Amino acid sequence: MKEVEVALLGFGTVGSGTFSLLQTNAELIENRLGVRPHVSKIYVRNPQKYTDVTLPEGTVFTDSVDDVLGDETIRIVVEVMGGTTFARECVEKALKAGKNVVTANKDLLAEAGPYLLDLASKNGVDLRYEASVLGGIPIIRTLYDSLGGNKISELVGIMNGTTNFILSKMTEDGSNYDEVLAEAQALGYAEADPTADVEGLDAARKLAILSSIAFNRRIFFEDVHVEGITKIDSTDIAFGKEFGYTIKLLGIAKETKKGLSLNVHPAFISQQHPLAAVRGSYNALYVKGNGIDDAMFYGRGAGSLPTGSSVVSDIMEVTKNEAAQATGKLTPFFYPDKNLYASGK
Ligand code: NDP
Ligand code: HSE
Repeated sequence: MKEVEVALLGFGTVGSGTFSLLQTNAELIENRLGVRPHVSKIYVRNPQKYTDVTLPEGTVFTDSVDDVLGDETIRIVVEVMGGTTFARECVEKALKAGKNVVTANKDLLAEAGPYLLDLASKNGVDLRYEASVLGGIPIIRTLYDSLGGNKISELVGIMNGTTNFILSKMTEDGSNYDEVLAEAQALGYAEADPTADVEGLDAARKLAILSSIAFNRRIFFEDVHVEGITKIDSTDIAFGKEFGYTIKLLGIAKETKKGLSLNVHPAFISQQHPLAAVRGSYNALYVKGNGIDDAMFYGRGAGSLPTGSSVVSDIMEVTKNEAAQATGKLTPFFYPDKNLYASGK
């Protein structure tokens, strides 16, 4: 069995979801790739915290990041710790050491994405970040690849699961803001510091990343005007309801005559609008382009397995590219195994 060695930096909500999916779907993934991504090392600060986790033979926890970044067998480093200081240091070191990087870290990308992508390119490796935006919704490659022949004029979306969860619960059963935020934290939706969620910073980072791809230019977090949900109370929600509206935290990017306008703010939307039906931790993105006219993407915006699904898709993409480079041969886009038929035989 051919394997590509992978290391995880972090084993929290996203790291554990990624690992679980790689384990559960190992055969399917290997069948699609012709290679099995194998996690050999998992870096965490305190391995004692994970004594209840049973790892398969050949996978170990380590509290030494150098043990991971200095390991020449590791081809893909998956950064799922969060933060911008230590995480950036690790990502830079990995890229400079000629390793591919997959990350879910929108804070890092919105701050230093273009620099890190340049660094990856200089070192002849890949940097992938599907999981950084809209959790399990496959939107990064969709915008870049599938919609790549469109001139995009507008993005409107619900880009933060925590705030959508809070606003949905406050609207549906009059739940208390602090209690629902605590619930979102317990479910693993919220950031380590939930201020980033409720003040709209997380959504603004995601809007910056999505807009960079959709509008084909370098856009940073500072380019986005942001307002969060902390000033919204039950009176606002009741007022909206009375007139047939619901409150959502929206991220909006639009081409205007004066240039690109980028905003994150709460908005009243009609209860008939498709975005009004996006409830709980779900996210959605409405895209307008001169080819497709319009399209909407919907799914789980946060959580362990949905986000893990996006990380795994990046690991698979990097693995395919590495194999193509090594063999000089491209794998045809959809190439089912010649031994697998509908009958399952
Ligand atoms: P968690 O807090 O659940 O997990 C972080 C993990 O990283 C822990 O295992 C922690 O272990 C480890 N870690 C090691 N070193 C550090 C360090 N220096 N600082 C912080 N953690 C460290 O985070 P999530 O899994 O929720 O998020 C990870 C990343 O994914 C973040 O960038 C987040 O924004 C992003 N993301 C999260 C989503 C979600 O639904 N939760 C969805 C999409 C993206 P230990 O404490 O033992 O060191
Ligand atoms: N805290 C983020 C959210 C996680 O609630 O959407 C997913 O990026």
